[in-house]
Amino acid sequence: MGIQSIPEHELARLREKAKEITGSQFDYQSSYTELLSRRLNGEPLQYIEEYVPFYSIQINVDQRCLIPRPETEYMIEIIKNNIDTPKKILDVGTGTGCIALMMKKLFPDSEVHAVDISNDALSLAKENAEINNLEVNFYQSDLLSNVETLDFDLIVANLPYIPTSTLSTLNKEVIDYEPLIALDGGEDGRLYIDKLQNDLKNIDSKELVLVLEVDTSHAESLLSSFTDWEDVKLEKDLVERDRYIVARK
Ligand SMILES: C[S@@+](CC[C@H](N)C(=O)[O-])C[C@H]1O[C@@H](n2cnc3c(N)ncnc32)[C@H](O)[C@@H]1O
Repeated sequence: MGIQSIPEHELARLREKAKEITGSQFDYQSSYTELLSRRLNGEPLQYIEEYVPFYSIQINVDQRCLIPRPETEYMIEIIKNNIDTPKKILDVGTGTGCIALMMKKLFPDSEVHAVDISNDALSLAKENAEINNLEVNFYQSDLLSNVETLDFDLIVANLPYIPTSTLSTLNKEVIDYEPLIALDGGEDGRLYIDKLQNDLKNIDSKELVLVLEVDTSHAESLLSSFTDWEDVKLEKDLVERDRYIVARK
């Protein structure tokens, strides 16, 4: 990547970051040069800036975890539109903790639990809870294996959904910097979503809403696989792609 390939708005953000690091409005050139060379090496701007806005909170990001995407931010809208006041919430594959923390912010009286298989991700999620002063119970679990009681009325998940064979076609910024465990969805990309669905088959819940972020290419087939749920529908993202499954039991 040459400097010409970096758009001016990104250069402006790198300059602002250099000013923040040095605490100076004028003497920031060497810090700027260092940040610029990281960007030229392909490091995502968000990792260099170290935080991203997410809905109405701020989330720290680094290589321990996937950078929250705009689709996931929009998933918060989808959740809000599909449930009034959840009492007990679970976020599966929490990553930075962005969804779980936003749930606690929107529904302060709820009890929020969040799991991830990655201890690195969990350590960052805990930092984000502290920064935002939001209380979420974060713990390590392979999907639901360490979740003791499944008495949730809202379960949300944005699990990895990229088929292993297409990982190599991803943008270098993604594949070189973001953790593979946050991206690799197994042979057909549906490994974890199918497993979660299976784990929830016999859940004895009076009223459960499940909201999943999915890849557009999986949306229709997933929709028809939720046979034992009462009410299942697809929801679209801001660019009109089927991106979320909302199911009720
Ligand atoms: C696509 S990222 C989403 C992160 C975050 N929820 C978000 O929306 O930005 C998927 C997350 O699922 C986690 N993960 C992958 N396999 C898992 C498993 N078997 N059980 C629990 N979490 C898993 C990854 O570590 C990663 O943090």
